[in-house]
Amino acid sequence: MTPISVTAHRAAILDSLGDPAELGIENSYRYFEDGLIIVEEGKIRALGKASELLHTLPAEVPVKQYENALIIPGFIDTHIHYPQIGMIASYGEQLLDWLENYTFPAEEKFVDKQHAQEVSETFLTELLRNGTTTALVFGTVHPESVDAFFSCAEQKNLRMIAGKVMMDRNAPQNLTDTPDSSYRDSKELIERWHGKGRLHYAVTPRFAPTSTPEQLAIAGKLLTEYDDLYMHTHLSENKNETAWVKELFPEQTGYLDVYDHHELLGKRSVFAHGVHLCEDECQRLADTDSAIAFCPTSNLFLGSGLFNLPQAEQYKIKVGMGTDVGAGTSFSMLQTLNEAYKVMQLQGKKLHPFKSFYLATLGGAQALALDQHIGNLEPGTDADFVVLDYHATPLLKYRMAQASSLEERLFVMMTLGDDRAVKHTFAMGQPVHSRDTPHKNAPQGV
Ligand code: GUN
Ligand code: ZN
Repeated sequence: MTPISVTAHRAAILDSLGDPAELGIENSYRYFEDGLIIVEEGKIRALGKASELLHTLPAEVPVKQYENALIIPGFIDTHIHYPQIGMIASYGEQLLDWLENYTFPAEEKFVDKQHAQEVSETFLTELLRNGTTTALVFGTVHPESVDAFFSCAEQKNLRMIAGKVMMDRNAPQNLTDTPDSSYRDSKELIERWHGKGRLHYAVTPRFAPTSTPEQLAIAGKLLTEYDDLYMHTHLSENKNETAWVKELFPEQTGYLDVYDHHELLGKRSVFAHGVHLCEDECQRLADTDSAIAFCPTSNLFLGSGLFNLPQAEQYKIKVGMGTDVGAGTSFSMLQTLNEAYKVMQLQGKKLHPFKSFYLATLGGAQALALDQHIGNLEPGTDADFVVLDYHATPLLKYRMAQASSLEERLFVMMTLGDDRAVKHTFAMGQPVHSRDTPHKNAPQGV
């Protein structure tokens, strides 16, 4: 008798094998025109041609077949703020004023645990609607915000990383903690959630201007006290911000050095933005195996600048894609790649569709040191995957009919596609979003 937990999915299937910059485009991906993935107990059991795998399946195993579709690994968002979903698309400011006028007031509401629970549900529903199955997520300063988020992610059996914001200066009083309280609160959250199911904790100092040196030292201390913790913060996003960091930390040689001095760099450290980095900083990020989250929609929306991806590539810095909602303007990784392409165009550079695809899947997993578990469809990894619909909109359908290669179809999908192109999302082999039968917690119109 076959266990009920075996399922199979048949369609065109694409996954990434590594960075095209290292492997060359042709060696960087696997593609099966008529492919099959077999899922068992939440993991990928097999991936290959349908013609070679179908006969290995007992007759009672259900095979779901998708037409005009492409199965890919779930997208990975390496930088996003769940409490900011309510103020996405706020008008008119650059980073520091935007924080003061829009962000902090939105985050103050998370003192209310029920609000945090409701927003967590709406946020995760929206991520899954967009095909994102793993994210590195900012909470607020309130520990309850992280309890609410992790509870919700646990119920959905998602692989998620999150942490409580540490912020002890240069913010409204009701959003600040202290070095001691941030240590205690973070520690309690780590004990409660880190390593539970597929959840991981990130020590989360907001950015250098909102932490005293004492608090940054506490963040560094926490990282030494538990295995495999993440460190998640912002770095060199905006020119006024970087100038402010120089004033606040005159002894340090630069922005990155503030974090380095407090031992916050490493294999599980993710720095959002990195738009204004010098050569030494790039070298140091590479030497410490730290990662950058490239957030094109946010960097354009806040007028922060153009991320230099070729420079990061040259230094072999790990890079993942980040939406950075609410400064970012879309939950869609497809739309994030669309904007990344334009950011490169403005610098006279190209972003190949297979490089884009890598960045949004396996590259993100590598940036998060999670590529043993997620990022492609290798047998043994978590069965987190997405079914994309080539015919999702009339324009997509029409344009796809003119496309003659996978490369072209992929590029059209990431240029014209968005949440409408995500037909199904699966986490651990279970359906967590189906476009045509919407979830009750998706944001509703009035
Ligand atoms: N720098 C410090 N806090 C934030 C934030 O919430 N969003 C962005 N984009 N940058 C930040
Ligand atoms: Zn951010």
